[in-house]
Amino acid sequence: MPIRIEHTAENIAAPDAKKLFIKSYGCQMNVYDAVRMGELMKPHGYTITDTPDAADLVVLNTCHIREKADDKVFSDAGRFKKLAGKDAIMAVGGCMGQAMGKEVMQRNPHIRVVFGPQTYHRLPEFVEKVERSYGTARVVDTDFPELEKFDKLPEVGTYGPTAFLSIQEGCDKFCTYCVVPYTRGAEISRAVADVEREARILVEKGAKEITLLGQNVNAYHGEDAVGNEITLPGLIKQLAKIDGLERIRFTTSHPNNMEMDLVEAFATEPKLMPYMHLPVQAGSDKILKAMNRNHTAAEYLEHIRALRKARPDIAISGDFIVGFPGETEEDYLDTLAIVAEVGYSTAYSFAYSPRPGTPGEAMPNQVDQVVKKERLAGLQALLDEQQHDFNRRFEGKTVNVLVEEANPKKPGQLKGRNEHNLVVNFDGNERLIGQMMPVNITHAGPRSMVGEIKLPDMES
Ligand code: 5AD
Ligand code: SF4
Repeated sequence: MPIRIEHTAENIAAPDAKKLFIKSYGCQMNVYDAVRMGELMKPHGYTITDTPDAADLVVLNTCHIREKADDKVFSDAGRFKKLAGKDAIMAVGGCMGQAMGKEVMQRNPHIRVVFGPQTYHRLPEFVEKVERSYGTARVVDTDFPELEKFDKLPEVGTYGPTAFLSIQEGCDKFCTYCVVPYTRGAEISRAVADVEREARILVEKGAKEITLLGQNVNAYHGEDAVGNEITLPGLIKQLAKIDGLERIRFTTSHPNNMEMDLVEAFATEPKLMPYMHLPVQAGSDKILKAMNRNHTAAEYLEHIRALRKARPDIAISGDFIVGFPGETEEDYLDTLAIVAEVGYSTAYSFAYSPRPGTPGEAMPNQVDQVVKKERLAGLQALLDEQQHDFNRRFEGKTVNVLVEEANPKKPGQLKGRNEHNLVVNFDGNERLIGQMMPVNITHAGPRSMVGEIKLPDMES
């Protein structure tokens, strides 16, 4: 998604400013990285623009998780080059850059710079090299300098009342379908002081809600000032002390890193919002084993029970893959059964995409594409129904909404999210952006809810 920008006096393009267009694909960590890249390029005369038209620098901040994501990048690269003009510098960053740097260069001669998620802090150097060579140089940098970028990046900026903050990166889990351990590297955690400093800056700049990000965010174990290891619940407690920070969320978690003190934080920390993204991927123990998830369906359900005990209204979200090699109709029904048992508020579901270099790609009994599609449609129908049911429970109730933006699709309407991370639209003045508003839900749709601002009761 293109990164969101506010047109403040500070970032309206000066006539001679160079224009930078960044498109982010895939996960929220990429959105975070794109914001940081924008900040990074500011001192070098670049101002963010939200269209590739006449851009001087175009960065495709890519995702490699499924084949479709790769294809989209190649088609966008051609399209953006035409719109941006012949002198524009085209760059490919993110996980696809990391995984297939040379191939990216070979397939598109216009791409001048390729880098990965761990080296984007060097973007100014790459761009300068290309500029100095009058657009002839080509740079590929797919190093893995752990955490170096966080020391090299300028002060974080924010573009609204909600912000992302990466606290952990990489993955040591090696699920057999997934490229992330190869593209983002081993699990690493940022130091507590570093995270806290960034959170304070974000709040000073207007953020009221921070989502802590990590590929395995609940595996976080950063060092504090005296060298003690602090895990995610400890970090959340520390951040909750920041005045002006009203909401904390975190994503994505792994079932095998679910500890009781994290579960309990949902009961004891009022700033921690009742929303948990905990992917299970599949409901059959046989498939979970083949996926190298290292847990069973029953163990996953235990975590859900514990979470609901701590916070009965918690919204549970998940990720699912259908059509993993060897998945039979019965295994697929196990996935539907676990979905039925949990009752998700939101979910992301995918047809298995064999990725180069992962063990899953070489497994026998790959599932036919048509069968995958059918199973995905069946699962999505069930998840949509559940999501709608979850939303309906708020009809007639008042929820607290952090107003994020004017609804781009409906003039006069504002858009925000309630505590359970559900989208709420309601009529209101744009001055309310950044405010926490009580909203009475009048209608719950399958993907979002509509409401009206609840006015304080007048005394007669
Ligand atoms: N095919 C389909 N879905 C995948 N995911 C990761 N790798 C693949 C793949 N090869 C999904 C998982 C993960 C989410 C981010 O993407 O569900 O949780
Ligand atoms: Fe990929 Fe599994 Fe790591 Fe998640 S836990 S990033 S799905 S390997």
